Amino acid sequence: MNEVPVHGSIIMDGNGRWAKARGKERVYGHAAGVESVRACTEAAVEAGVKYLSLYAFSEENWNRPEAEVNRLMELMMEAIRNEMKTLLDNGVRFVVLGNRARLSERLNGAIDDLMGKTAACSRMTLVIFLSYSGKWDILQAMKRAVAERGAEGVRSMETADFDRYLVTAGIPDPDLLIRTSGEERISNYLLWQCAYTEFVFTDVLWPDFRKPEFRAALAEYASRDRRYGKVK
Ligand code: IPE
Ligand code: IPE
Ligand code: MG
Repeated sequence: MNEVPVHGSIIMDGNGRWAKARGKERVYGHAAGVESVRACTEAAVEAGVKYLSLYAFSEENWNRPEAEVNRLMELMMEAIRNEMKTLLDNGVRFVVLGNRARLSERLNGAIDDLMGKTAACSRMTLVIFLSYSGKWDILQAMKRAVAERGAEGVRSMETADFDRYLVTAGIPDPDLLIRTSGEERISNYLLWQCAYTEFVFTDVLWPDFRKPEFRAALAEYASRDRRYGKVK
């Protein structure tokens, strides 16, 4: 039996279909999904997960209709405003990772503010991947490694040396990755970091994924046999 994952991660998918099933606009599903973020954050803290990471917006998601993109960014702003106290009260450190150059100055300011205010919180780290893609991360890491070490220094690098150039530097690789909504793909998420991650797929749409569903995924993870290529 595995223990509780140190790092649990979720590809939060199915908001649009959830809204469509109710005859509503897609953005209605995104707003409902914010409640699932709150529920899963609470459940993760309660279970003793140390890092909960959430794929909130991919680099490819910029190609969605402008109104939807704007609403998603607005929801992010609202969540930052509304959840600050809860995060502080529960000792949750807030971190945003991704291509932040593409975010508005206003949103970046709010993110920096909340990251600063929660920097000393140590019960759990909540990582929001925003404007993130795995290929982008690997490429920016490669560029930074070359800039810092030079060609000669890069030649002698081991895989472990590469970790610290990724935006996830200092964060352990996910033990568990959950994807909701029945899709069973990685969608350019943590490509390097998921080398030995356990995947749990569920048909539940993200706005319906709450504490019981999160706990069920932890139970599924606990039953997995992790071998890391070795013979047991
Ligand atoms: C996940 O729900 C939220 C984001 C990707 C931002 P979707 O918006 O992808 O919902 P579906 O997959 O269309 O149902
Ligand atoms: C993946 O969901 C990205 C996020 C959950 C942020 P998508 O809905 O964008 O993925 P695809 O297009 O179905 O692969
Ligand atoms: Mg989707």
